[in-house]
Amino acid sequence: MAVSGLIMVGYLVLHMYGNLKAFAGPDSFNEYAHHLRTIGEPILPHEGLLWIVRVVLLVAVLLHAYAAITLWRRNKKSAGYVGGKRYQTKQNRTGIQRSYASFTMRWGGVTIALFIVFHILNLTTNDIHPGGAAETPYGKLHNSFEHFWVLLAYVVAMLAVGFHLWHGFWSAFTTLGQNHSSTRRASVWNSAAVGIAALITIGFLAPPIGIYFFGLGG
Ligand code: HEM
Repeated sequence: MAVSGLIMVGYLVLHMYGNLKAFAGPDSFNEYAHHLRTIGEPILPHEGLLWIVRVVLLVAVLLHAYAAITLWRRNKKSAGYVGGKRYQTKQNRTGIQRSYASFTMRWGGVTIALFIVFHILNLTTNDIHPGGAAETPYGKLHNSFEHFWVLLAYVVAMLAVGFHLWHGFWSAFTTLGQNHSSTRRASVWNSAAVGIAALITIGFLAPPIGIYFFGLGG
């Protein structure tokens, strides 16, 4: 769960950072998208690294879902199918550390999976092109985010990503032995998880909001 999650977090941080190129203007963004396809040439073929990343991500997503189902089953079994106290540790005997984020992991995960399918059809293949098909990567962004429903769909999806990351980071910190408080709220590691998740969410939402509300890129 953790290793596949970390691989995807690494991708998300780089992807979010790359998307911020939108603020440097359409030419910079297009050049960056082009560069993603030529990195590693001539040792790798055209789009070689991109395909390696695609395969690694696909394997990570499948492993993550498999681990989630396996862990959920194991948890049910060990608790005698009546529901156990989660995150119980020596310091935290009650184990009551659930949050809105932890409640929404399953459906949040499904929402994110559906979003990825929509997202690839929208911005990679451009089969879904609300404002008309576009030639350039920036054109695809611009034509999409000029529409309020597209913006709304991305906001909902990014909130799901944010909540998923909040619980994911907190859970990872717990695995690393940092679960010392009896309530989640009192834990400084919870604040750290919220902070990192919020940063990634805001970073992702900045370009679509810039395009819709402030006419970013003309
Ligand atoms: C507002 C947020 C986002 C924006 C503006 C955005 C933008 C883009 C763009 C422009 C592309 C096409 C890149 C290209 O073909 O050159 C892309 C591809 C992709 N994005 Fe995002 N993205 C966002 C959020 C996310 C999130 C949260 C995820 C994962 C949960 C994600 C996963 C992907 C994947 C898997 C691809 C396909 C890469 C490929 O196979 O070519 N994106 N995104």
